[in-house]
Amino acid sequence: MPDPAAIAPPLLAWYDAHGRSLPWRGTGDLYRIWVSELMLQQTRVDTVLRRYPAFLDRFPDLASLAAADEDEVLAAWSGLGYYRRARALHRGARRIIDELDGVFPTSLEALMELPGVGRYTAGAILSAGLDLPLPILDGNVIRVLSRLFEIAEPVDRAIVRRRLWSLAEAVLPGERPGDFNQALMDLGATVCVPKGPDCATCPLAGPCGARASGRQSELPSSPRRSQVVHEERVAVVLRRDDGRLLLERRPPDGLLAGMWEPVAAPRPRAEEPEAVACRLAAATVAAHGRVEHRFSHRHWTIHVFSARAPQPERAAEPRAERRWVHPDQLDELGIPTVTRKVLAAAGAG
Ligand code: ADE
Repeated sequence: MPDPAAIAPPLLAWYDAHGRSLPWRGTGDLYRIWVSELMLQQTRVDTVLRRYPAFLDRFPDLASLAAADEDEVLAAWSGLGYYRRARALHRGARRIIDELDGVFPTSLEALMELPGVGRYTAGAILSAGLDLPLPILDGNVIRVLSRLFEIAEPVDRAIVRRRLWSLAEAVLPGERPGDFNQALMDLGATVCVPKGPDCATCPLAGPCGARASGRQSELPSSPRRSQVVHEERVAVVLRRDDGRLLLERRPPDGLLAGMWEPVAAPRPRAEEPEAVACRLAAATVAAHGRVEHRFSHRHWTIHVFSARAPQPERAAEPRAERRWVHPDQLDELGIPTVTRKVLAAAGAG
C-alpha cells in the first residue's frame, strides 16, 4: 500500500504546473466558493464556467442573494438544472443574514447546517477558502483514491466509504491542504479519468496500486458494474404416494450452501425445460410455470415441474444428502425462500 504521506509532494508539484485556473480558486471569498461548489455538485465544470460569472454579477454577495426573490434566483440559475440547489443557496443566504449576523460559517459543523451542504461540500469550501485541513471525497477523489490504494470493494458500501474518508484524511498534508484538495479534483478530472486514465503523465503513477497490478480501468468498482447474473434453472418436485417430497442438500460452499432444494439443475440453453425435467425425474412431469428469485448478484428463473416418484427410486448422480420429507417436516430443515417458492408453485409447500 502506498505511504499516504508520500502522495502530497508529487501531487502539489503537478498542480503547480498543470492545475486548472478556475475563477473560484485563490479568491479566499467563501461566498463565491460556496456558490461554485453548489453549482459543481451536479454540473460539469465547463457548464459552470459559462454560468458562474453572470450569477455573481447579479448576486455579488450574500446580502444581494438574500434580498432577491426566489424567482430571480431561479432565473439566474437557468441552464444549470437541479434547481433545488438554487433554492438551497437562496435559503442559505437568508439564514446567514438573518441568523448568523451575515457572517459566513467557518466551521465544518456550522457550514453543514446550511441546506445542500454535506461533508464533502463543507470540506471543499473551507479547505479552498481558508486552507483548513479538511478532507474531501467526491466522485473524482473516490476514483483517484480507490486506484491509488487499490480498493476493490464496491465504493457505495458504507464501510468502504468510511475507509475512503480515512484515506482522504491520511493523504491530506499539513501544508497547502486547500491546494491539495483542488489538485486531487483536477487529477481525477483530467488524468485519472474514468475510462482510459493517462497513467503516463500521472504524478502518482509510481505509488499507484492499480497501476502496478494493471487494474486501473476496473477501479473503482461500482455495484452498477458488478452485474446481476441471470440463470435459468429447472426444478422437479418429486412426490411419493405417501406425500413425501424428495429434497437434496446443496453443496457446503457457495450460494445457499447446505440448504435444501428439490431436484434441480441449470437449464442448458439448447434444451427445453421440460426435457431437462424429464431427465431429472426419469418420469413424465407436470409443468407449474416459473418462479423468479433474486439474490444480491444473481437472478434465477426456475421452471417448476412435479412428478410422481418412479419405482424403483430415481437413479440420480450421487449427492451428499437426499431425503424424502413430509411437508409437515419442512420447518425442521434449512429451507431457503426460493425452495419455498418452488414448492408452493408445485402445490407442495
Ligand atoms: N468539482 C467540485 N468542486 C470543484 C472544484 N473546486 N474545482 C474543480 N472541480 C470541482
